[in-house]
Formats: sequence, structure tokens, C-alpha cells
Amino acid sequence: MLVNAKQILNTAYKNKNVVFHININNLEWTKFVLLAAKETNKPIILGVSPSAAKYFGGYNVCYNLVSSLIQDLEIQTPVCLHLDHGNFDDCIKAIDANFPSVMFDGSKLPFEQNLALSKQIYEICNKKNISLECEIGRIGGVEDNVVSNVVYTKIEEALEFKKIGIDMLAVGIGNIHGEYPTDWKGINFDLLNQLNKKLKMPLVLHGGSGISKDDIKKCTELGIAKININTELQIENAKALEEFIKNNDIMNNKNYNPRNLYKKANESIFNKTKEILNQF
Ligand code: 13P
Repeated sequence: MLVNAKQILNTAYKNKNVVFHININNLEWTKFVLLAAKETNKPIILGVSPSAAKYFGGYNVCYNLVSSLIQDLEIQTPVCLHLDHGNFDDCIKAIDANFPSVMFDGSKLPFEQNLALSKQIYEICNKKNISLECEIGRIGGVEDNVVSNVVYTKIEEALEFKKIGIDMLAVGIGNIHGEYPTDWKGINFDLLNQLNKKLKMPLVLHGGSGISKDDIKKCTELGIAKININTELQIENAKALEEFIKNNDIMNNKNYNPRNLYKKANESIFNKTKEILNQF
């Protein structure tokens, strides 16, 4: 069942629980993440970054692929298809392709401009019952080939965004996209606690790969209702593919057939996603 993120996130927030947002990168990713959601019977958010959408062939491909897989694989659990880190134009394209949920990321813009554009996107989303995520402060690391430093979210600015009526807010609390460096300072739980007390709305933790289970638990108790994961599955998938290629004669026994070549890598996505979803 394809849904927007409103109800699943509000329920998770109320119960101090979390819905995982798993980025999808190709057909196999989408299929095996959905099968993991089916087997664990958990709601799931499938995140598509603008560069992933381009790789798939476009936003319509993503929408039709996800809807068709839900139908053919008989997925009963709620599935939200969500644009991840879109600019204004990306949001419009995803909305036109029937995405039920989008993230407008204006975090690199001056605050007033981010706020004004977020309001415009909200007006469009609200009319179409599309859920909306915005971001203030900044998540560190590399996302879609853009490198950023961590900028902590300011409480007064976050309150301005709450007033818009958005459904979820991505916060900068020391989190980083990609692998965490060995000298990482960790999550600023004090700031998260203050943000949650003032905002009382679902908050989003980007850069979920590599955060310990204990820290995830702590985050969920302090208002994080959506956790985004991409790198962890990419690494797992690449390792499985590497191992298969190292240990098998690729040019014999039909190992060159992509359905055989990617089998272990697909299983790795399925198993890792199940492990992630079963945490809570
Ligand atoms: P990671 O790649 O660090 O898991 O982050 C994913 C993410 O936040 C996507 O928005």
C-alpha cells in the first residue's frame, strides 16, 4: 500500500518508535527492500535522491516501479515513496510523478530563502495530501556529490519551520552522511532534547549508517521518528558482490548471468534491511 509519511510518522513519534527510510538505488534494491518490509511486516519509507532518480531513468520510472512491485509482490505493509534532498525543481518533478512524499532541502540557502521556498512547496503539498520534510542546520559529509560541514540546527529557526505546517524536520545534531570519521564528536543529545521539547513533532535523523543501536534508541526517545540509511546497505551490497566475484569463476557455470551474478548481493540487501527493520 503506497502512502504518504504523515500517519506512519506521527504514530512512530507518539510511541517513541522509528520508521526507517532506506534509499533505493536500482530495481534489485527496491525489490529486496520491499520484500524485507513484507517479511518483517514493518512500514517503510523508500528514499530516492535526485541523482538516483536520474539513474533509474526519471521520477515516473521510480513511481511506476515502486507501485508495480507493491502490487506484484503483494506488499500489504505501508510503503512511502519519498524524494530525498530535492531542490525546488526536483520537488515539482517528483510531485508531478505522483510521489506521495518529498523532502525540500534548502539547508544550503540563506535561512529566509529556505523558509520562503519551503512555504511555497508546503502550499503545493498540502493541496495534494503529500507529506513534506524540510531541513535546517546542516548534515555533514557527502550527499549526491556535495560535501558539507555539520551546522547545528537553531531552535528559533526550527520553530519558524514548524509554523509552516510541515510533517517532519531534518535536524543537524552532529550527524553526517556516509561513514563516520574516527574522530567524530557524536550526536548532540542535549540539542536534540531541546529541539524535541520545543517542536513536539517528528524529527528526522539523516546519516543513519554507523550509528549504534543504543544511540538510535536514545534518538527515538528524543523525537527522532525517521532514520535515513543508505551507505550501510551500499557497503553490504558491494562486499557481497566482491566476495562472489572473488570466489567464483565468473565466465563459467552461467555466473555471468546477471541474475546469478547479483544473487548474493541481493540477498545481502534483503538480510541487512530485515536486520535494520527488526531493531525496533
Ligand atoms: P547514510 O548514507 O549515511 O546512511 O545517510 C543516508 C541519508 O541520510 C539519506 O538522506
